Amino acid sequence: MINVVKSYLPSKEKYCEYLEKIYSSAWLTNNGQCVQLLTQKLEAYLGVKNLLLVANATIGLQIAYKALGLQNEVITSPFSFVATTSSLVWEGLTPKFTDIQPCTFCIDENQIESAITSKTSAILPVHVYGNVCGVEKIANIAQQYKLKIIYDAAHAFGVKYCGQSVLNYGDISVLSFHATKLFHTVEGGALIIKDDAVFKRASDMINFGFDRLGSGKIEGLGINAKMSEFHAAMGLCVLEDMGCILAERQKIDRYYREHLPSFLVQLSIHKNAIANYAYFPVIFETEMQLLQAVADLKVQGIIPRRYFYPSLNTLSYVDYVKMPVSEDLSKRVLCLPIYPGLTELDLEKISGTIRRGLGL
Ligand SMILES: Cc1ncc(COP(=O)(O)O)c(C=O)c1O
Repeated sequence: MINVVKSYLPSKEKYCEYLEKIYSSAWLTNNGQCVQLLTQKLEAYLGVKNLLLVANATIGLQIAYKALGLQNEVITSPFSFVATTSSLVWEGLTPKFTDIQPCTFCIDENQIESAITSKTSAILPVHVYGNVCGVEKIANIAQQYKLKIIYDAAHAFGVKYCGQSVLNYGDISVLSFHATKLFHTVEGGALIIKDDAVFKRASDMINFGFDRLGSGKIEGLGINAKMSEFHAAMGLCVLEDMGCILAERQKIDRYYREHLPSFLVQLSIHKNAIANYAYFPVIFETEMQLLQAVADLKVQGIIPRRYFYPSLNTLSYVDYVKMPVSEDLSKRVLCLPIYPGLTELDLEKISGTIRRGLGL
């Protein structure tokens, strides 16, 4: 069976070394040594400051909305994972969708202004598949209308734009470290926060509102969104292997590009960006073609993923407004397996099955 993703597992011995330390300290959570070390290492690796580890990206998004004091309406992309929208609704905010660009799959920054109302408090774009949004234009709009920007950067681990981390754009960027991600901590995520005061507030919020400096004072409303030592230890191990992980993914990406018909490979990565090979989406001409490919691959024991599907403006708990590009794309996009350990034989099986299904 070849699944769309396979969680990367670092050496068991290396993980056990961290487990030994956790066992001997008996400090399992609450900003322990592994969390502190991983925070430092990730800040250095990613080229960011004010990185706050959390239990997962969904709660990270919710903390971001609270820490920035968002209210009423938030402009966001309909082409994303459900958590982008559900986290807003969960926090009592109203998603206002703006359609995506057909070539980048990210929110169309040229349509954002027309969605702004007197109730808009923020823009929540998504760096889809690690592709960079129109960050400069979005920053200009936010400045002009005094809006906050939160990037759902769940896919953007390690992505560079114009020579620096893309995570430095916006007021807050939120990464996911879920087990299926490029870099993971089993479950987990991180916020990268521009403003020091917001960083302090968010740091308190993830620990029930207790002052992060340890005074014991409750500074405000909080929740439990902390990362445990066991999760951080996994992150420390995976981080050491990032060079190999990226090199293997890049090889797979190249294989697909060379062996699949070019009309299937439509995602255009921003010219000033360095990709992270987190996903390999292919776009069929019709949903029927996609469903046929899914069926053909399944017979071969290959399970790709309809990701993202459905378009989030069609969810039952939001007001439906037509988003033609996102709705159309979500019916035709399929993410192919991409992870270290896939062999050339596996890749030939996947691309050969797709080619044959298309009669090529
Ligand atoms: C774009 C996007 N946002 C948010 C999330 C939620 O991440 P987590 O599972 O860490 O809560 C995901 C997870 O797949 C995602 O792809």
